[in-house]
Amino acid sequence: VKVTGKLWGGRFSSDITSEVLAYTLTTDVDVRLVEFDVWQDIVHVLMLGKQQIIPAEVVGPIVAALLDLLDADEVVLRPELEDVHFNVEQLVIEATGLAVGGHMHTGRSRNDQVATDLRMYLRAEVFELVDAALALIDVLLDFPESDYLAILPGYTHSQPAQPVSVAFWRTAHASMLLRDVGRLRDVFARLDECPLGAGALAGTSFDLDRAFTADLLGFDRVMAHALDATSARDHVVEFASALAIGATTLSRMAEEIVVWSGHEYRLCEIGDEYATGSSIMPQKKNPVVAELVRGRAGRCAGTLVQLLTMVKSVTLGYSCDLQEDKPYLWQSIDTYLSTLRVVTGQTRGLRFDTARGEQLCWNNFTTATELANHLVAEHEVPFRESHRIVGEIVGALIAEDRTLRDTDRVSALLAERGHAVAPEVLLVLLDPRTAVTGYTSAGGTAPTSVTAVRHTLAGAVAEHRSWLADRRARVDTARARSVALARASAAAIPVPTTGRT
Ligand code: ARG
Repeated sequence: VKVTGKLWGGRFSSDITSEVLAYTLTTDVDVRLVEFDVWQDIVHVLMLGKQQIIPAEVVGPIVAALLDLLDADEVVLRPELEDVHFNVEQLVIEATGLAVGGHMHTGRSRNDQVATDLRMYLRAEVFELVDAALALIDVLLDFPESDYLAILPGYTHSQPAQPVSVAFWRTAHASMLLRDVGRLRDVFARLDECPLGAGALAGTSFDLDRAFTADLLGFDRVMAHALDATSARDHVVEFASALAIGATTLSRMAEEIVVWSGHEYRLCEIGDEYATGSSIMPQKKNPVVAELVRGRAGRCAGTLVQLLTMVKSVTLGYSCDLQEDKPYLWQSIDTYLSTLRVVTGQTRGLRFDTARGEQLCWNNFTTATELANHLVAEHEVPFRESHRIVGEIVGALIAEDRTLRDTDRVSALLAERGHAVAPEVLLVLLDPRTAVTGYTSAGGTAPTSVTAVRHTLAGAVAEHRSWLADRRARVDTARARSVALARASAAAIPVPTTGRT
């Protein structure tokens, strides 16, 4: 059977099997590319007309058909047409006839086409992700003054280390998340160039205006090298990397919440909307959202490995391996985006039990460093020596089942070692609040330091927002200009008399 129905059927004498079609098609994942494919087609055809590469009279009808697709509620992709590009081209040909619609793919290949669609789609997803990450950062940075002295134990090696504040914890996560936003922007910077016009791999003999199409598609620049433009997938790997790192950041916060919400810690309470009960154990309040945030980071890490492996041996020039750039990347984008959003809600409802945090800090020796520092500052003891003395005192207290709160005993233990520090002095010195307030170094826990950091972080959020608004506006404006030019073209040029096939 001659493959007459296929847009590529000329040299074939029999069609692919349904099994091969099912194995190779991308219509399911390409659904997300439809709007970008159609926009790209519009711009390509307007350029072909402007450059007099295709007859002037076919431009209007083709863009009119494309505008119909752009306005349609839904464009159903037919699997037998393999991918979005063949589907849209087929729809245009069905609407305008082969004599008209058959001109659309002049001077182009699906290889530069898919590379362009993907960059356009990923650009839009960067916007969504940056938006969602900034919303989470907003929630983290939105806290009352009292959080500056709301005490939590700070941990190293999962062991109580030094007291910190809720404000300190919140700003730490905001600070980390801001770098994840920065990484998405870095990805955007390298996404922001237009492969369209690269052809299959080598350019074309048609006199294309690549700057015109890049501009109307809202890109910053033309991608200079045709073979690079059609072969590159490093931006996809880089995107997956940003997603994997971002999801990993969130998983670390989730781990803290899982542990701290447990009854042994009781440092925080998750909002009821973000936890579930047990089918058998009536006492349970399980932090399932936080657990899933932790677990789902695996999807994003997996996608990064999949993409690196997929791309690693692909010689330059398109190979179908590269078609595997989409399914897992879509999943990774969805995972990170939904995770950012659910974490935003969970963080908003998270409550810390800071009376408990303060208790724990009195009892878990987290102010031992203060005692060592005091001997250095007030008793001229070298730090290495004071470290040993306080270590001995901590050891003795633990052996006696006491804590640093027992300031009479601490005072006696110090006296035994030749240092007179009154219990009343120790009561202030060993207070977790004294430690938190006293760490005034830049970036430290003191309210003044955290206030300064918070201010800097809020400034960074504002700068990211203005970047986002600027880039979104550029893309939106380009789309509006494309549509306006298309409408003018569709209205001005009458349907040609060459007829429909
Ligand atoms: N479906 C393909 C992809 O997703 C589109 C381009 C295919 N090009 C080709 N020559 N087979 O990458």
